[in-house]
Amino acid sequence: MTPTSLTDRYAVFGNPIGHSKSPFIHQAFANATGEVLTYEAILAPLDGFEQSLRDFFAQGGKGANVTVPFKEEAYRLCDELSDEAKLAGAVNTLILMAGGKIRGENTDGLGLVADLKRHLGTLVGKRVLLLGAGGAARGSILPLLNSGIESLTLHNRTHEKALALVDIFSDYGTVDAKKSDELDDAYDIVINSTSSSLSAKVPELPVTIIGPETLCYDMMYVKGLTSFNAWAQQAGAKLTLDGLGMLVGQAAKSFALWRGVEPDVETVLNALRSDMAEQAG
Ligand code: ATR
Repeated sequence: MTPTSLTDRYAVFGNPIGHSKSPFIHQAFANATGEVLTYEAILAPLDGFEQSLRDFFAQGGKGANVTVPFKEEAYRLCDELSDEAKLAGAVNTLILMAGGKIRGENTDGLGLVADLKRHLGTLVGKRVLLLGAGGAARGSILPLLNSGIESLTLHNRTHEKALALVDIFSDYGTVDAKKSDELDDAYDIVINSTSSSLSAKVPELPVTIIGPETLCYDMMYVKGLTSFNAWAQQAGAKLTLDGLGMLVGQAAKSFALWRGVEPDVETVLNALRSDMAEQAG
């Protein structure tokens, strides 16, 4: 038996997966914490995620991350789920339990909240506006409601989808849905979970949602400024942040679930930022 076969294996599954930063992040966490493990990126066929995952576990895999487009399928195959995963309807972290059962967790929203706290100290009393009502929004709502915020307002281009999320989450905190013509006040935090930045667009919104104290957070990240954050700066936001901190934050939560030690986010985040800046060069 080679030493490598004794090393705990982890992986991220997605399609596409080539540009995933997760192997870099988890290897850096392992180096920083002294944990001995390997972490690879696995391209699962679109119709073969479950088989690919089960093969990985059968070959000694201990845990996995799951990304687009398999988060909902991963949710369905779990034997047990955390509350975050149950309410998100999706998982990004899988843990192989004793006896072979698979536990699913969703650390995306926890990573977002950790990143917001890193910048603001506390979220207690904050009024938060969340833009979008897709999977990224849904995965963030429970951790936001559990973070001490005063209220959460959802806004989505298709209003009915925001209303459906309010129905799901209203037992867990103060959450409502507003159409754009009902949005007039400035919020403490405005989070963009829509995929609009992918196509360099910005959701149609009144600038009155942004005040001089508003923190704007785009879950997307690009080499420069995302289109949403450019809009937010024009509108006078105090601070704009992109989703790179959320990416490293969710990874740190996954790592902690697997290894029992929560790694420091800052060093890896700085390394990723300078790497991106160099590529933009
Ligand atoms: P994800 O899993 O990344 O959340 P998704 O489930 O496809 O992706 O959801 C995409 C979200 O971005 C939706 O809220 C979508 O709004 P609709 O529900 O109205 O489709 C939102 N979105 C995408 N492009 C947008 C745009 N140009 N302006 C506003 N919202 C946009």
